[in-house]
Amino acid sequence: MKEELLSAASKPAFAAVEETARVATPVAEPKDGQALFQQHCAVCHPGGGNIINPDKGLDGKTLAANGIVTAGDIVSLMREPRPGMSAFSKELLSDRDAGRIAEYILQTF
Ligand code: HEC
Repeated sequence: MKEELLSAASKPAFAAVEETARVATPVAEPKDGQALFQQHCAVCHPGGGNIINPDKGLDGKTLAANGIVTAGDIVSLMREPRPGMSAFSKELLSDRDAGRIAEYILQTF
């Protein structure tokens, strides 16, 4: 019995118009702590100060006096801030970006 193999893989002639597949790399470029700080915090904390409550600046001495010592402490405050400061959810700032901002603050002011 002869078996006739028909190539079912009749390749479609329409050459795939793959131009549209050109991906515009949606992956956001990772920003450094300084850029993130400028974007999210500097409006109220220009230069590490505090335009709303001058006693709550971001310099190391003031932070320490207010019990804020580690990057984790700063990130916690971003998630659950005290009155006057806007909250920064994980959707808005990933843990990684929040950590970058915190490190930037500790190293800069
Ligand atoms: C809408 C204004 C505003 C924005 C935006 C803001 N803050 Fe604040 N922040 C405040 C105010 C007001 C306080 C003081 C709250 C209090 O009474 O302890 C404060 C306090 C802080 C403190 C504690 C300072 C201290 O000496 O006790 C840290 C740390 C801080 N902010 C970090 C940030 C970071 C990081 C961002 C950006 C991700 C940010 N803030 C964005 C208003 C703001």
